[in-house]
Amino acid sequence: MQPLKYALKTSQTLRQSPSSSVIWQILRTYRTSNHLNTKVNPELEKHQDDGVQGDFSSRLAAGPTFQHFLRSASTPQEKSDSSAAVEDPPPYLTTEALVGRGRKVYLETYGCQMNVNDAEIAWSILQKNGYLRTNSLHEADVILLVTCSIREKAEQAIWNRLKRLKSVKARRLKSQVPLRIGILGCMAERLKEEILQREKLVDIIAGPDAYRDLPRLLTLADSGQRSANVLLSLEETYADIMPVQTSPNATSAFVSIMRGCDNMCSYCIVPFTRGRERSRPIASILEEVKKLSEQVLQLIQERNNICKQIHLPAQSGSSRVLEIMRRGYTREAYLDLIYHIRESIPGVSLSSDFIAGFCGETEEDHLQTLSLLQEVRYNVGFLFAYSMRQKTRAYHRLQDDVPEEVKQRRLAELITAFRQGAAEANMAVVGHKQLVLVEGPSKRSTTELYGRNDGNIKVIFPDIEMEDVTSPRGLIRAQPGDYVLVKITSSNSQSLKGVALCRTSLQEYSSHC
Ligand code: 5AD
Repeated sequence: MQPLKYALKTSQTLRQSPSSSVIWQILRTYRTSNHLNTKVNPELEKHQDDGVQGDFSSRLAAGPTFQHFLRSASTPQEKSDSSAAVEDPPPYLTTEALVGRGRKVYLETYGCQMNVNDAEIAWSILQKNGYLRTNSLHEADVILLVTCSIREKAEQAIWNRLKRLKSVKARRLKSQVPLRIGILGCMAERLKEEILQREKLVDIIAGPDAYRDLPRLLTLADSGQRSANVLLSLEETYADIMPVQTSPNATSAFVSIMRGCDNMCSYCIVPFTRGRERSRPIASILEEVKKLSEQVLQLIQERNNICKQIHLPAQSGSSRVLEIMRRGYTREAYLDLIYHIRESIPGVSLSSDFIAGFCGETEEDHLQTLSLLQEVRYNVGFLFAYSMRQKTRAYHRLQDDVPEEVKQRRLAELITAFRQGAAEANMAVVGHKQLVLVEGPSKRSTTELYGRNDGNIKVIFPDIEMEDVTSPRGLIRAQPGDYVLVKITSSNSQSLKGVALCRTSLQEYSSHC
């Protein structure tokens, strides 16, 4: 427990900042908590009930510290402690009581992208506590609205929604587990009392920093108590909670790197509803991004409708030059990634960008780049001689000291090495049958078509009549957009040549491999 001195110092440093509103909010929560089941220190409640008698300083000493008003007020390294807050229930609630026991949660998200992320965090917490998810309002045992306060209209939408939810709750059969309704997010933070007063159907209220408390709040709701936690935190970033994407067919994911806002734009409620600005520890952001990248690699590997092709611009094979370029990786790290990708996606096609003759590049550095090209054997390469650009860091701080003819010679050597690697890589598929997406007539010959294989490599083949395995109605000519099965007969560093076997489809082709 933090000493009171510390607590006072902290609150002093926060005066005149957005946190003064935070503290006010906390105290307000605290004061109004008598009739509500807000998370407050039972010690203090006792003192309040005493009738304000006794020695003030001893009461202060025995009373709560500033830390009591902050959820998860721990250092980032201690973050696991705050997740333990979910696992370690308060003594009067057993772990068992906190478990969802398969009750189904329906989440409805309003407002900004932060709310999308909040819904994912809330769901992640509830999922770990034995709740199930439903996309049907009528199947739900728990309905949670992740709300927005940014403009009047956003709040009005929630009030209207609550009116309509009244009938859903009223229709709930007596034999079923009672339906619980919760208000989460900014509107919960801003209007706690008003919501509880105006809408008797709301069972729980959780502000943006109180989602770890959801299992407890829901358990309290089971005993018929309406409960709220709108304590704002100076440190809660949910860093240890992997958000779970709430929409199964979502095409994008959000990685939240910070919460809250300190800007205090004169028109904006956000600093008051989301609290002080705080950043998530970099390690936890990296871990999440890494996980997402892994998922992307896995998807590329398993889905036939995604090309197995990755562009990974190396720029140089010399760690020294990479550092001068400020690329943020070494040759070794880059190669590790290449091997990891090759292992994850067998047969993946790789492309890259390289710059020859960057500032300070020595002959030894150049040889390192040549050896990287030889080692990786890219399928496609984009190679350039360095040209100084105004305004860049290199323009201001570095010397464009590699003579033009040296740049051009090195570039030519890089191109030769790249072509050799690409020729070898392309040769490896000669004799194989490949699925080709037709793009149109070949640029060089009117009797040929061209398309691209799964690695985005150009494949040229004669424009002849062929069978159509998707609809066996005589012979057809392949059209742009068609999938054609092509047997590869020859190759060079740029493209493949082959003979068309039949018109097919992605599904048909996939079912045979
Ligand atoms: N000189 C040469 N090549 C450059 N590129 C970017 N800036 C320069 C420059 N000043 C190359 C890099 C990049 C690609 C788009 O263009 O290889 O990946």
